[in-house]
Amino acid sequence: MPAERGLVVRWSTPAPIAGADLRARRAAGRLASRVALAEAIAAWRAAFGDAGWQRAPVVHDATGAPRFDHPAAPAIALTHTAGLGGGAIAMPGVPHAGIDCEPADARGASALRQIAARSGEDRLEWCDDAWPLRMWCAKEAVVKAERSPADLLGRSLRVERVHPAGAGGVQRVEVRSHLGRAFSVVTEVAGAHVRAVTA
Ligand SMILES: CC(C)(COP(=O)(O)OP(=O)(O)OC[C@H]1O[C@@H](n2cnc3c(N)ncnc32)[C@H](O)[C@@H]1OP(=O)(O)O)[C@@H](O)C(=O)NCCC(=O)NCCS
Repeated sequence: MPAERGLVVRWSTPAPIAGADLRARRAAGRLASRVALAEAIAAWRAAFGDAGWQRAPVVHDATGAPRFDHPAAPAIALTHTAGLGGGAIAMPGVPHAGIDCEPADARGASALRQIAARSGEDRLEWCDDAWPLRMWCAKEAVVKAERSPADLLGRSLRVERVHPAGAGGVQRVEVRSHLGRAFSVVTEVAGAHVRAVTA
């Protein structure tokens, strides 16, 4: 994503598994998120230097939020679905990290449209028909950045503003989290997936 700021992000596409069911493809996506995180560690090291946390294992807190098991580690975020995994590490001084991805043909878009019709989010100047999933991925990225679960359908988060689309269909959106904090999130459609990264 050209417009991302604040995070070192890498995406990884698992090799296709012949005849694999959705569960196996999701498992491959989860593995891909660890490959992506390893690549993000290498990129972080190349940009900002070697640090002890780069060799620490990833653990999860009580809500499932991931972190490096090291007191000086930056924030991280992971996402995975069938066919894609992503890993993100906050740059020095950046307090949070959030990323999300979903298949562009994911079911549930009509439910998201209904929610957005009630909230007014459907009247924002979205740049394409993928907007329900852009909205959803942006909210999920913010939930991860907050490291705190929200309501199941994300009604307690709100996309307050969308910016004009940039090159390659990248569209930045402004999200108010369920904890009342403002986040800028970069969304894009990349191949068969919609992706979102907190900026
Ligand atoms: C946390 C949540 C947003 C994850 O999203 P998802 O689309 O289901 O799954 P993704 O593949 O994108 O992300 C999974 C990763 O998120 C991370 N994660 C899980 N819980 C998390 C939390 N509370 N905070 C931050 N990251 C979390 C984990 O690293 C997990 O991968 P791992 O278990 O392999 O390490 C989801 O579990 C959820 O919906 N939780 C509760 C309800 C909620 O908050 N809904 C928000 C709607 S906008």
